[in-house]
Amino acid sequence: MKKKLLIIILLSVTIFIIAGCNNKETKNNKNREENKTKSNTAVIYFSATGTTKSIAEKIAKESNSDIIEIIPKEKYTSSDLNYNSDCRANREQNDSKSRPEIKNNINVDKYDTIYLGYPIWWGTNPKIILTFLDTYDLGSKTIIPFCTSGSSGIEKSVKDLRDYKPDLNIKDGKRFVANTPNQYIEEFIEENNIKEVVSSMKVIINDKEYTLNLESNLAAQKLVELAPLEITMAELNGNEKYKYLNTAFPVKQTKPGKIEKGDVMLYENGCIVIFYKSFNTSLSYTKIGHIDDLPDLGDKDVVVKFRRDK
Ligand SMILES: Cc1cc2nc3c(=O)[nH]c(=O)nc-3n(C[C@H](O)[C@H](O)[C@H](O)COP(=O)(O)O)c2cc1C
Repeated sequence: MKKKLLIIILLSVTIFIIAGCNNKETKNNKNREENKTKSNTAVIYFSATGTTKSIAEKIAKESNSDIIEIIPKEKYTSSDLNYNSDCRANREQNDSKSRPEIKNNINVDKYDTIYLGYPIWWGTNPKIILTFLDTYDLGSKTIIPFCTSGSSGIEKSVKDLRDYKPDLNIKDGKRFVANTPNQYIEEFIEENNIKEVVSSMKVIINDKEYTLNLESNLAAQKLVELAPLEITMAELNGNEKYKYLNTAFPVKQTKPGKIEKGDVMLYENGCIVIFYKSFNTSLSYTKIGHIDDLPDLGDKDVVVKFRRDK
């Protein structure tokens, strides 16, 4: 009898614990789901013929943002857009006072970051974008422009927008083409997502401390993320120490032509290299940073520690 009672108690306790865990798991999943769908970023765009719309959709998908179209009260017909004639679009662009009306109400309040998309018209943004900036209070927000165009860059439109609203926080932005691969969209989002840019870190080589001044790119920030990191770096060619890490870094390769003593580079997407001699090179690297006053590191492997400054 006593044995039976003990078994019943044990069973009840087990069921209770399992139910508790499941409940916790469900709650965690729910939180995760909420985080996924809760967005303080919106992609807000105007598109007359659908190209900017397709990029806007990709950005929204990749950044898990809401997406809102700026819909003109009077739709642009193809003759309105026939820029070889005296068309409506040309007349608006030539009229500094033109502010084409927007049909829909856009609720910008819940967003702190806005990807603002538009096609380039005569080298700059369509006037309806100015209507948008005039209508909504965007003072506390970060605005990241993006555009599509036949060939023109985004730079002039960004300058024009900044001149028009000097108080707004308008980032440099990026131009895309119709079939931009997702990789570029992802890079664009990542670049704009670097919250805290760390500009230097400590490097301890064979117990001597140096400052590594970092490039402002994603590869450098990835190294910061990995710190504290202790690795043994192998000697190569009498000018460098290297180590393949088991991590894929975001790469932005260039051919530097010349390596300077103290350069810290990423070879391919996961090999970190510290150069202790200057020489010419034809290879491609992503620069991570530079160590001032780095001495000749000799012909042996070295133990290197990467530490955050603070
Ligand atoms: C009135 C007008 C002016 C344009 N001006 C330029 C220009 O100056 N430079 C350029 O590269 N493309 C120019 N374009 C091409 C558009 O920027 C390009 O087709 C864009 O991708 C269209 O985007 P959408 O489909 O979202 O409207 C112009 C198009 C129109 C209709």
